[in-house]
Amino acid sequence: MKLLVAITGASGAIYTQRLLDRIDTRQHELHLVMSSYAQQVLAQELPDGLRVPAGAHQHSIKSMNAPFASGTNAPDAMVIIPCTMGTLGRIAHGYSADVLLRAADVCLKEKRKLILVPRETPLNLVHIKNMELLLLAGAVILPANPYFYSGAKTFDALADTVVSRVLDHVGIAHDIGPRWAEETD
Ligand SMILES: Cc1cc2nc3c(=O)[nH]c(=O)nc-3n(C[C@H](O)[C@H](O)[C@H](O)COP(=O)(O)O)c2cc1C
Repeated sequence: MKLLVAITGASGAIYTQRLLDRIDTRQHELHLVMSSYAQQVLAQELPDGLRVPAGAHQHSIKSMNAPFASGTNAPDAMVIIPCTMGTLGRIAHGYSADVLLRAADVCLKEKRKLILVPRETPLNLVHIKNMELLLLAGAVILPANPYFYSGAKTFDALADTVVSRVLDHVGIAHDIGPRWAEETD
């Protein structure tokens, strides 16, 4: 699978890290792009820096010279994790001013999976309307809302309850569990 992971300046770097840790670059072609504000939040939330898997392709947000900037070379899936309300709104309104926004636009027009993982709370009507537009255009809005019935005892385990749903929607098998009503013996 050709997967593009995009990072924006929302809180939730732990989700990005836990997702990247689960992607085997020997099996999947992994591309990474981040907004300029993402760097600021990453510095705040991951003082040791983001661990990028060996073999991942990192791209500058300023350059359209990336494969996923064109429908001729669209990724199979793009995940924006975490996704700001600003980026979500810009995608909803077709504002393709950088390669991250353009890639999302490409995914929508080429009917590839576009998964947005917002953290924002509470939501205002602008956020909701922008989400509605994106849902109508075919995107998946997958809020970073962890679940607690797994008995997670650490932040990482809690974050994994969100990452497991992202991987399910991307279509990458994983062993984060247990799944609801799964036999565990
Ligand atoms: C520490 C920190 C946390 C932030 N968390 C969020 C957030 O959860 N959601 C959001 O929409 N914006 C958040 N912001 C604000 C965005 O970074 C800001 O709106 C920025 O312009 C987003 O740009 P981008 O969408 O290009 O990344 C946060 C900013 C900082 C510094």
